[in-house]
Amino acid sequence: MHFNSLSSTALTLLVLFNTVQAKINVLSWDDAYTKAKIIVDKMSLEQKVNITTGVGWDGGLCVGNTYAISNPDFPSLCLQDAPMGIRFADNVTAGVSGVNAAASFDKSAILARGAYMGQEFYDKGINVQLGPGMNFMRSSQGGRGWESGGEDPYLTGVVAAETIKGIQSKGVIATAKHYILNDQELNRNTESSNVDSRTLHEIYLWPFARSVESGVGSVMCAYNLANGTHACEDDYLLNTVLKGELGFKGFVHSDWGATHSTVNAVNHGLDMDMPGEISYKSGTSYFGQNLTDAVNTKSIKESRTTDMAMRIVATWYKLGQDKNFPKVSINSVDRDKASYLNVQRDHKKIVRQIGAASTVLLKNSGVLPLDTKIKSIALIGSDIKANDDGINSCSDRGCSSGHLAQGWGSGTADFPYLIELCLITDCNAPLITNLINVKIQSSISDWDLEAATEAAKGVDVAFVFATANSGEEYITVDGNVGDRNNLSLWNNGDELIKAVADANKNTVVVIHSVGAVLMPWIEHANIKAVVWPGISGQESGNSLADIVTGAVNPSARLPYTIAKKESDYNVKPDPSLQVEYSEKLLMGYKWFDHAKIEPLFPFGHGMSYTSFNYSKLKIKVSKSGTKDMTVKATVTVKNTGKLDGAEVIQAYISYPEKAGSPPQQLRGFEKVFLKHGKQQKIELKFTMTELSIWDTVANAWVIPSGKFFIHVGASSRDIRQSGSFNV
Ligand code: BGC
Repeated sequence: MHFNSLSSTALTLLVLFNTVQAKINVLSWDDAYTKAKIIVDKMSLEQKVNITTGVGWDGGLCVGNTYAISNPDFPSLCLQDAPMGIRFADNVTAGVSGVNAAASFDKSAILARGAYMGQEFYDKGINVQLGPGMNFMRSSQGGRGWESGGEDPYLTGVVAAETIKGIQSKGVIATAKHYILNDQELNRNTESSNVDSRTLHEIYLWPFARSVESGVGSVMCAYNLANGTHACEDDYLLNTVLKGELGFKGFVHSDWGATHSTVNAVNHGLDMDMPGEISYKSGTSYFGQNLTDAVNTKSIKESRTTDMAMRIVATWYKLGQDKNFPKVSINSVDRDKASYLNVQRDHKKIVRQIGAASTVLLKNSGVLPLDTKIKSIALIGSDIKANDDGINSCSDRGCSSGHLAQGWGSGTADFPYLIELCLITDCNAPLITNLINVKIQSSISDWDLEAATEAAKGVDVAFVFATANSGEEYITVDGNVGDRNNLSLWNNGDELIKAVADANKNTVVVIHSVGAVLMPWIEHANIKAVVWPGISGQESGNSLADIVTGAVNPSARLPYTIAKKESDYNVKPDPSLQVEYSEKLLMGYKWFDHAKIEPLFPFGHGMSYTSFNYSKLKIKVSKSGTKDMTVKATVTVKNTGKLDGAEVIQAYISYPEKAGSPPQQLRGFEKVFLKHGKQQKIELKFTMTELSIWDTVANAWVIPSGKFFIHVGASSRDIRQSGSFNV
C-alpha cells in the first residue's frame, strides 16, 4: 500500500514559493505609513471621510465597498466574504472550513490554504478578504464555531496567524474577525458578553494578538456588546487594547450593521463603517455626512479622521495594492453580470490534501484502511449524495439535506462542484466503482431503516454516514437559529447508525459535522471505526476516500472535546442578554481536566494507521524569569509501525500552582512526517508569550515563578513524556 502525506515535497515547495512572495509584496508598516502620508496630506476632510465610509447595502459589486475619491486618487475598496473561499462568486474554490484547517494541526498546510485563497481573492480584484474567523467554540452548539479554530487559544492563534500570512502573501488584506467575544449566535446583536480581564487576555484576545504580530491589515469589530459596550464603540477594547497594547496599525471596520453611533464609534476607535448605512437601504449613515458634521462641530477632531484615513491608505500600500491591483470581477448583487474569470488553478489539489489531513480517525479496531481483499461495501445515509435540488440550491448553504461539506451563513462560498460519495462510486450503478475494486450496495434514505439494514447485510464493511449542521443567525435551518438546539445527529442519524450496526459486524461510522455530537451508539460491538471528516469542502468525498483506502495515513487531531453526555460541558448558548463568561479560563478540555470528567474523545485526539513512540524528553531553560526567557524541549519521536505517517506532537504546559491556571494548556505542537522505522528529534520552543499569564494587578504579562511542567504527547489525555523546570 502506498501512503503519502501533506508534508509532501509538492506542498513544501508551494509553501516556499509563498514565503518568497511574501517578502516581495509586503512593506513594513513604517514604510507604508510614509507613503500614505503623502496622499492623505492632500485629502480634504470630505475625502478622508469618504474613504472610511461604505456605499451602502447592495451599492457596489462586493458585500462591502468604500467610496473612491479623485485628486488625490484613492480607489473604492472591495471587501468580500468568506473565510473559506469567495462568497457570491463563480469559478472559485470552496475549500475546507476553518475548523478543519485547525484539525490538520499542520502549519504549512494552513499557510498554503491561506495563500491559495489569497490568490483567488487577488485574481478577482478583492482588496479585503473577510477572514479568518477567530471566535471560539465556547459552547459546542455555537453556530459559527466551524468558521474558526475550535476551543483552544493557542491552536486558534496558529490557525489565524498562518492563514493571515498566506492570504497577505498574495497582496490581499486579511481580516481578523469578529472582535471580540462573539461566540454564540443567540441574541448576537443585543447580548453583552461579560468577561474578566485575565480571561479576556489569555483566551479571547490571544488569536487577535497573534494576528497583529503576523501583520494583519484589518480587524472587524463584532455585533455583540462586550462588558456592556457595543464592540464597535468600545474605547478600552479598540483604543487601549487593540491599537495600544497589541500595537495594531491597520484599520478597524464594523461588522455589517454593527456601528451604532458616529461620535462614540469614531472617538473610540472605529475606522471604517460597513456597509455604510444605518439600516438596509435607509440611505443614512453614521459616517459620511454625519461624520463630517461631527468634525465641523468639534465633537470629533479632524486629526482623528486623518488617522482613520492613514490606517486605510497605509494598509493598502503595505499589501502592494497600489501596483496594478486587478479590477473587481465579481458581482455579489447580480451574479449574471459578473465577468467570467476562472481563478481555481489547481487549488483543488490543496483542498483534497487538507481535507484528508483534517479527517480525524476517532476510533479504529483494524477495519481501516480497507483491506485490498475485501469484495463488497455498503454506503448508507443521505450524506452520501448531494442535495437533489443542486449543490448550491440553498442560498449561503442554508439548508441541510444531502452531503455536508460547509455550514451555513456568510462564511460560505458556492461549490464549483461537490465530490460526494456517489460521485466517486456511482451509487446508481452499484457494481461500477473507482473507489476500490469492490461491489457497492447503497441506501440514501436516513429514515428507511429497512432499506439501510438490507444494504448493510452481507457486505464486508458497512459505512454509515450522518451529519450535524449549524451556521449564522440570519438563516434558520430545521428550527436551529444559527446555534444548534442540541448536540444530537441530524436527520435520524442515531437510529440509522444503530440499524446499520445491528446488521453488519464491520460497521464504520462517518460523521460530517460542524462540531461535537453525542454518540449514544459508540459502545455498539459492531462499530469498528469512527471517521470524522468535519466539513471539508468541494473535494470532501475524495479526501475521505484517500483516508479509508489508506492512500493517505490519517494524521488529524480533534480541535475540540467530544463529551460522553451534554451535561458534561460547562457552557451552552445563553438566552440572557448578560452572558457571563463565568467559566473563566476553563473552556473545553481545560474544564474537563479541572472537573476530572472523562471525555469520550479528548481535545487533540486522532489515530493513525501506524504508531509512534516518544522518548528522551530534554528541557533547556535560558534567561529564566526575564522577558527574553526561552525554554526548549526536545523529544525523540519514532514511527514504530509498519506504515509511513505523520504525528502531531503536542506540548501542554502546567503553570506553577500559585498562577491559578487550568491544569494544563496547549502551548506548542509540531506535525512531523516519518517513514516507518524512522525517528526524529523534535524541538518545541516556548517564549515569554507561551510562558506568561496575564497579571491583573500589574496589567501585564508576567512569567509566574515556581515549578512548571511540560507534558508532551499525542493528545491532551495521552501524555507520553513529562518534565519540569523552575523559574
Ligand atoms: C457577518 C460577517 C460577514 C458580514 C458581511 C455579517 O453578518 O457576521 O462575518 O463578514 O456579514 O457579509
